[in-house]
Amino acid sequence: MAVACILLSAFAALVRAETCPMHSSSSSPALLQGSMKVQATLSVDERSKTSKKGVGLPSSTGYGATQLEALNASWFYSWGLKPKITVPDGVEFVPIVATAKYLQWSPASGCHDILGFNEPDHSGQANISVSEALKLWPQVLAKVPTNGRIGSPATAGNPVTGSWFPEFMAASPHVDFVAVHWYKGAKVDKFKSDIQEVIDKYQKPVWVTEFAPQTIAESTADPTKWSQAEVNEFVQEVVSWMESNSMVERYAWHDSKSGTSWLYDDAGGLSETGQVYAAS
Ligand SMILES: *[C@@H]1O[C@H](CO)[C@@H](O)[C@H](O)[C@H]1NC(C)=O
Ligand SMILES: *[C@@H]1O[C@H](CO)[C@@H](O)[C@H](O)[C@H]1NC(C)=O
Repeated sequence: MAVACILLSAFAALVRAETCPMHSSSSSPALLQGSMKVQATLSVDERSKTSKKGVGLPSSTGYGATQLEALNASWFYSWGLKPKITVPDGVEFVPIVATAKYLQWSPASGCHDILGFNEPDHSGQANISVSEALKLWPQVLAKVPTNGRIGSPATAGNPVTGSWFPEFMAASPHVDFVAVHWYKGAKVDKFKSDIQEVIDKYQKPVWVTEFAPQTIAESTADPTKWSQAEVNEFVQEVVSWMESNSMVERYAWHDSKSGTSWLYDDAGGLSETGQVYAAS
């Protein structure tokens, strides 16, 4: 009896981990129906209006439902197509076709939106040329469920002033929203103007899928370059700005594993930065 119960709950956890909860229907145009030139709408997904806050939660860290709940996150992604944890109620997992290798696998069933390549312009990440990415893009689109939407590749370089992203977008691939990474210090005005530039240039909703004052490497080298007070103010100001900007559909902090951009403490609880993020 006890064994059966354990097996059953383990099975239930497995089933839940394979699916994406929280899919209300959406008014977004169906992707891949009819012409590939479906006009992206400027209106933001209804479902996302009250659930912008998320987090990148690497599956290797041991972090899971406890951290998602503590962070007040409505969604998360793990640089993979399926969640490696039991997804808590009220939290949505978003698959990502992180690199070309992921084209051979399917996203978790029941998902809605899919993210495109992770940092194709970074040799240690997706590392794909613009021409290769454009050639593979139909295969990425083929992973998007009916009524789902596709996020653009998120570049390491600046998506407006860099070269990779403008070249990619110049070929007019189907992209429903633009995914952006940002690590430029605890600089509120710089953050707002950079994100606004992306919105203005591409005229599509934006998901800030990685952001923090510092990257993991920068934080390792200089963990307190930005004081706790500076980071707290940055978090409060940019979160409040993104919540009020209807073109920013979602955002996810990328935790730096040390220093003042780290969301956690050694015991897996929230750092001060994590607490401020949860409450903002
Ligand atoms: C990145 O891609 C280039 C071109 O295909 C290749 O020569 C290089 O080895 C790749 N870098 C890494 C780190 O895999
Ligand atoms: C979670 O977010 C909501 C809405 O922004 C906020 O009212 C609440 O205080 C937050 N919870 C925590 C634990 O910070």
